[in-house]
Amino acid sequence: MLRQLKFNFLAVLFWVLSYCIFACVCIRMLQLHFNFLHHVFMNNSQHDHITINDTSYTLLDVESLAWKKLVNGSVKKKNGFRTMCVGTISEKKTAALRIVVNRKVDEIQKIIYFNTDNRSRKFYDLQKDNQISLLFYDARQRVQIVVKAYATLHTNDVLKLDRWKATSPQARLGYMTLEPPNTKSEKPTLGYEERFSTIKPTDSESDVFQENFAVVACVVYELEFLYLDFTGNRKANFYYENNVLKDGFWTVP
Ligand SMILES: Cc1cc2nc3c(=O)[nH]c(=O)nc-3n(C[C@H](O)[C@H](O)[C@H](O)COP(=O)(O)O)c2cc1C
Repeated sequence: MLRQLKFNFLAVLFWVLSYCIFACVCIRMLQLHFNFLHHVFMNNSQHDHITINDTSYTLLDVESLAWKKLVNGSVKKKNGFRTMCVGTISEKKTAALRIVVNRKVDEIQKIIYFNTDNRSRKFYDLQKDNQISLLFYDARQRVQIVVKAYATLHTNDVLKLDRWKATSPQARLGYMTLEPPNTKSEKPTLGYEERFSTIKPTDSESDVFQENFAVVACVVYELEFLYLDFTGNRKANFYYENNVLKDGFWTVP
């Protein structure tokens, strides 16, 4: 009887110990796996960080920070990232640049949106070649963000309609020019009816011009973050595939 009890106890002990060892091995393997992934994808070590305004940022933190700054720019009118310089490839294969308003940033999908006139040169350029570059710089934050993306043009869908509805009467004037943007004129011109220099167009007056309005969605595949600091500048580059961060590393500023 005593021997049987002792045997049972040892058997239970054996199984408990085996289970514990198995669990420990599994946990360690998972740890190693995640450390490996983190290291491989981010080429990063725990001690790799930079300090911005007394806050420490790892490489992954910098990536999140960049998107947070872009989101802030899209929602805060006075933020330095509210506007961006958009680069397209012109018909003559030269770099074509202009400023637009950062209207919306989807940090999950890695998409940056702006509105434009579908008769404009940038729209024409993007129809021919949808590669687009976006340049942001906020002197107050001393941060530059350069983005490369593929543009998707929305001219006649729910997104375009929603964005048009959300556009103010003042902003709609930009789409109410009788001739396309950049058309030669004999004298200085507003492009739209002179009376709208003093009164706002009504919804029905502006809705007629909705067909000129388009939304450009820029699907980001590359993001460069540069922080200017008197103790030394810092830079990191990030690369995305299908909205997923695939690579990132610190670079020489
Ligand atoms: C502060 C600022 C904001 C602007 N925002 C926009 C905008 O959101 N969308 C746009 O199409 N043009 C905007 N423009 C005008 C463009 O810079 C540009 O002159 C116009 O779109 C024609 O460009 P394109 O002929 O190269 O296509 C803005 C200009 C400035 C200075």
